[in-house]
Amino acid sequence: MTDYAFTQKPVTVPKVKSKFRRIVTPIPSPRSIPVLKKLSRYEPQSLHHELPVVWDHASDFQVFDASGNCWIDFTSGIFATNTGHSPPEICRALTRQLNQKLLHNYVFPSQVRAQLAQKIIAMSPLPLNKVFFLSSGSEASECALKLMRLHGHQLRQRKNILVCFDGSFHGRTLGAQMMSGKPAGKKWIRHIDPDIYHLPFPYCQKCPWGRPGYEKCGAWCFKKGIRHLKEKNINLDQVAGFMIESYQGWGAIFYPKDYIQALRLWADQHQCLVTFDEIQSGFARTGRLFAYQHYHVKADLVVCGKGLSGGLPMSAVLGRASILDRAPDLSSTHTGNPVCCAAALANLEIIKKHNLAKKAHDSGKILLSQLNKIKHKYPNVINLILGKGLLYALHIVSPNPDEPKNAARAGTMQKWAQKRGTKTCPVSQTKELDVLLGDRIIEKAMQKGLLMVRTSSGTIKIAPPLTITSEALVEGASVLEEAIKECVS
Ligand SMILES: Cc1ncc(COP(=O)(O)O)c(C=O)c1O
Repeated sequence: MTDYAFTQKPVTVPKVKSKFRRIVTPIPSPRSIPVLKKLSRYEPQSLHHELPVVWDHASDFQVFDASGNCWIDFTSGIFATNTGHSPPEICRALTRQLNQKLLHNYVFPSQVRAQLAQKIIAMSPLPLNKVFFLSSGSEASECALKLMRLHGHQLRQRKNILVCFDGSFHGRTLGAQMMSGKPAGKKWIRHIDPDIYHLPFPYCQKCPWGRPGYEKCGAWCFKKGIRHLKEKNINLDQVAGFMIESYQGWGAIFYPKDYIQALRLWADQHQCLVTFDEIQSGFARTGRLFAYQHYHVKADLVVCGKGLSGGLPMSAVLGRASILDRAPDLSSTHTGNPVCCAAALANLEIIKKHNLAKKAHDSGKILLSQLNKIKHKYPNVINLILGKGLLYALHIVSPNPDEPKNAARAGTMQKWAQKRGTKTCPVSQTKELDVLLGDRIIEKAMQKGLLMVRTSSGTIKIAPPLTITSEALVEGASVLEEAIKECVS
């Protein structure tokens, strides 16, 4: 986590009146201060590290406050509103559901849940032929943990081991956090599950095994990871499943395709399941319905959330009937809440009708070309641009790489690597990320009418609604460029 706090005091900034943005007050807007103060007083502080914009309403790719300011949204409300904010189709479906007067039915059957289940299965790749609806992404991750183990136990009593990845994120509840690969998030857990292991993430720019870069070595890298497990005296026949974030969230880092293909083969040979966490990456964001489809492999389980329902609290576990049907107690009070189902159904219809996967792919090309132009001008600030479709992470480095904070961060990474018995590349080759500069750029862009995702990891994530126009993408990118220019000059 970064210590940088976005200023909560109104700052006088130049006024903006462009086609898609409007900044007409100091930022944060003076009218928003009482709301910010009230939330800070009554809610946990950890909720208050986001940009101080009090959302009044949001429409398609724009967010409005109550003071007349308007931002281009490059966050999709943290990857949730892939079909745009408040699309008319979803609003109409919600109104119909409210007028029908069915707000809750527990797991009693409802027409709308049946329609949604049929729709999502029809859209999903084989062999996913059953779905279980839940409320949050973390809950869906927990459910996958349980399903992988239940499946393993049916084959062999001690087939209980789950293999996950360093640096990944699967949610903030106990099981989800234990599967996540971020040590800082687990400090509160006293008894870490001894049957959850993490492999080094195959990040080729910073190869965990010390190679200079990707050399068609994905399969080799996976086998090396498995050998690493073996050296820890792990009985590989007891592996029940793999939990894979389809790309590593903080940096939009995809796995090498041959790595995942080797993993899939190994899983089949060892009767273990492969789960992809599509909570962030799903529903057309990367140019395919699910990001794991870029690897050309099959999934046994897929966990979804965020982009499933256009912003309402809903998640899901998709999987083979042979896995979901055999689990004894899949149920929750809000399983398939009818209001969320109505929104999700309308949302999936929009994705299909407007072929948003293709739109993400095509618009992504426009966005990437703009981002590459900025990188070309500021190569000493943007070290890498990673991602696919309408999802990119800018890896921000310091124009003054000798600053002590960067050296300290590099030292920490090397210590982790030593503990795990792997290597990081020498610091001079890898360029450490500059968390503070990333945060300052995000804050500056907000003052100019652009919202982007803070990762607190030295990356800036860009994920506009897939419905955004090319003109708004270009305008948003130009704001990012101005923000970088002002932050480094
Ligand atoms: C990849 C991934 N998995 C799981 C989660 C957790 O989802 P939720 O916040 O809905 O619990 C997130 C949320 O950011 C995520 O990005």
